[in-house]
Amino acid sequence: MSKTSKPFKIAFIGTGGISHAHATGYSHLKDEVQIVAGCDIKQDALDSFCNKWGKEIRQYKDYRELLREEKDVDAISVCTPNGVHCDPTIAALAAGKHVIVEKPMAMNAKEAKAMLAAARKHKRHLTIGFQWRFDHRSQMIRKQIASGEFGKILYVRVQALRRRGIPNWGVFGQKKHQGGGPMIDIGVHCTEMAHFMIGAPKPVTATGNTWTYLGDKPMKAMCGWPNWDYKTYTVEDLAVGMVRFDNGAMMSIESSFAAHIEKDVWNVTIMGEKGGATWETGMVHKDQDGYMWNMTSPCLGGSGGAGGLDWNNIFNAKMRNFVECARDGKEDIAEGEHGVMVQQILDGVYGSAAAGKEVAIK
Ligand SMILES: NC(=O)c1ccc[n+]([C@@H]2O[C@H](COP(=O)([O-])OP(=O)(O)OC[C@H]3O[C@@H](n4cnc5c(N)ncnc54)[C@H](O)[C@@H]3O)[C@@H](O)[C@H]2O)c1
Repeated sequence: MSKTSKPFKIAFIGTGGISHAHATGYSHLKDEVQIVAGCDIKQDALDSFCNKWGKEIRQYKDYRELLREEKDVDAISVCTPNGVHCDPTIAALAAGKHVIVEKPMAMNAKEAKAMLAAARKHKRHLTIGFQWRFDHRSQMIRKQIASGEFGKILYVRVQALRRRGIPNWGVFGQKKHQGGGPMIDIGVHCTEMAHFMIGAPKPVTATGNTWTYLGDKPMKAMCGWPNWDYKTYTVEDLAVGMVRFDNGAMMSIESSFAAHIEKDVWNVTIMGEKGGATWETGMVHKDQDGYMWNMTSPCLGGSGGAGGLDWNNIFNAKMRNFVECARDGKEDIAEGEHGVMVQQILDGVYGSAAAGKEVAIK
């Protein structure tokens, strides 16, 4: 189906918080895309979705029924909690729909691999909802690395650290629904962009640890997001990991919902033999003509402060990418295979924390 023929029809599974960012992204594509159906187990979530995005959107409580009934739907946005990514994605692919599934791809790499296998079996497109690789800084650093400007990549430091930002909605504090805490919820963002920038090498081993010391207790300090549900909190507050790739590069990952640090950090630092980069400032570090240089590009523009696009813009770019890949066969920079490798990294860190030693990633 081309851009000029009938609209690309979308349905949603999960119409909570992030579904609205998907719908906003689709709305920028105007009449190229039409949202026709939505499914949620909560009527109020469905009602507020339909009130905002169209009263004519058909409502379902069970995604299997939606997939059975909505024969004309081309693609599905899966926007459910992590524990409800795998089954609806596989069911949607089997029903002949293209799928964008929110990050993290799944609860673990086993589920992620099954999802990728289903996409291949049913010859449908599967995109992972990784938006940070659409940021201009990620794109610029990826190009520098791909063209050999940094030489061999040696070490990558990934930081997604909140001083106090324990989610106070949804099921983000519950391991059985989410698979983990900050590592799988926000660490995944900076890990996916770092892994993308360095050319998606294969992870081979991981070591790591996790700690819970604050989220399972009532709030004491008056800063950050208040009143999370500490009684159901079963995830970590802080996770750290070190991953080895098949090309010899190492990646450290630090991620927290709550940590005793000066301030929040959202950054990737890359060190190569000939050059490096700091994602937060969009800065490239090199030696040239007998001097050390810190370089930024005026072309990065945007309103992200450090030369990046703002969150809405990268999210909209992710939604456009999905439609263009699924509808027009464009090459995907957020493909399922990347999702599986990122999930293997997360599994490796969690697996090592549980085992108390370094683990192999198979
Ligand atoms: N890319 C990003 O920046 C970003 C930001 C926030 C959340 N997310 C991801 O999006 C997903 C959802 O997060 P959220 O913040 O929207 O959570 P949310 O709790 O606001 O919404 C999830 C919705 O899914 C519904 N749901 C649960 N089980 C269902 C089922 N079996 N069938 C249909 N609906 C079901 C819930 O009722 C809820 O309305 C998570 O995987 C999260 O990691 C991504």
